[in-house]
Amino acid sequence: MIPYIQDPVRIYNNNGRTVAGFIGHSAGNMDATTVESFGKEWKKFDDFSDKDIKVAGDQYFDIASHLLSKETSVLDAGCGSGRWSAYIADKVNFIEAIDPSEAIFSASVRYQSIPNIRWTQAEINNLPFADNSFDFVMTLGVLHHIPDTFSALSSIVQKIKPGGNLLVYLYYSLDNRGGAYRFLFFLSNQFRRLISGMPLWMKHFSCDVIACLVYFPLISISRFVKFLFPRKNWFRKLPLSYYNDKNFKIARNDALDRFGTPLEKRFSRNQIHQMLSDSGLEEIVFSEHEPFWHAIAKKPNQNPDQ
Ligand SMILES: C[S@@+](CC[C@H](N)C(=O)[O-])C[C@H]1O[C@@H](n2cnc3c(N)ncnc32)[C@H](O)[C@@H]1O
Repeated sequence: MIPYIQDPVRIYNNNGRTVAGFIGHSAGNMDATTVESFGKEWKKFDDFSDKDIKVAGDQYFDIASHLLSKETSVLDAGCGSGRWSAYIADKVNFIEAIDPSEAIFSASVRYQSIPNIRWTQAEINNLPFADNSFDFVMTLGVLHHIPDTFSALSSIVQKIKPGGNLLVYLYYSLDNRGGAYRFLFFLSNQFRRLISGMPLWMKHFSCDVIACLVYFPLISISRFVKFLFPRKNWFRKLPLSYYNDKNFKIARNDALDRFGTPLEKRFSRNQIHQMLSDSGLEEIVFSEHEPFWHAIAKKPNQNPDQ
């Protein structure tokens, strides 16, 4: 593990698991309502099967698995339910998994049998680790829910060792899709604005209704097209085809993510490339496969200013 460089604000004893908390009184670079919403979301969806995690994990890590070895020290920034830490735990040395929401407590219990993960309640702009500490930092589906995305990115880049790598996934702005897709997104975003402000029970109920009445039929259509034309990739052009090989629970979770989260931003591939390069990273490689966009980038061995 990497030693903490600050004293925790609080130590939680959670079902026999100790979790150090570093969330202070200042808001930091985080949207409190969004974080609270995630805390509730991950309590509801904290039991993905190993198979579900593997199917989705193989897609997130398609461009990154070669960067992991038994020597790799990892920071999972915004770990949520902890599923990606669990996915790579047996491939790396150890993982520091941080999240500001209550999800960190569920994760620490859910994955208590994995010895090389330490769970910490912290936010990305106030990480209790020294700079240049980690070989590999991953932040998957997090930076688009943070008020100042570039500041958050810069904060985690500081924690990467020279020569180390970042894996990032940010919601795409549908920059590789046509007009019909973008129109659908425009509509769904209006629903998100409405639903994300609802009381918790109503929000969860509405998102489950959307999952059943919108996600399920569209996923079924993409499965049917895949069944009819197994050698073609036509089904991939259909909305929500990403879920064709996934458990419906993942779609329900993502519907809640998509429609229940107050703060959500979207970025084009060019914007992400620019941010990664402005934060000092190089050798930027984007995956050509879903989920869009996920990319890896390397911290240079030598600071060019030195
Ligand atoms: C969509 S979830 C992704 C969780 C996880 N990486 C995954 O893919 O399963 C976004 C997570 O970012 C966390 N988050 C929000 N603001 C944050 C911040 N300022 N610092 C660190 N994490 C934050 C939320 O609490 C939430 O768990």
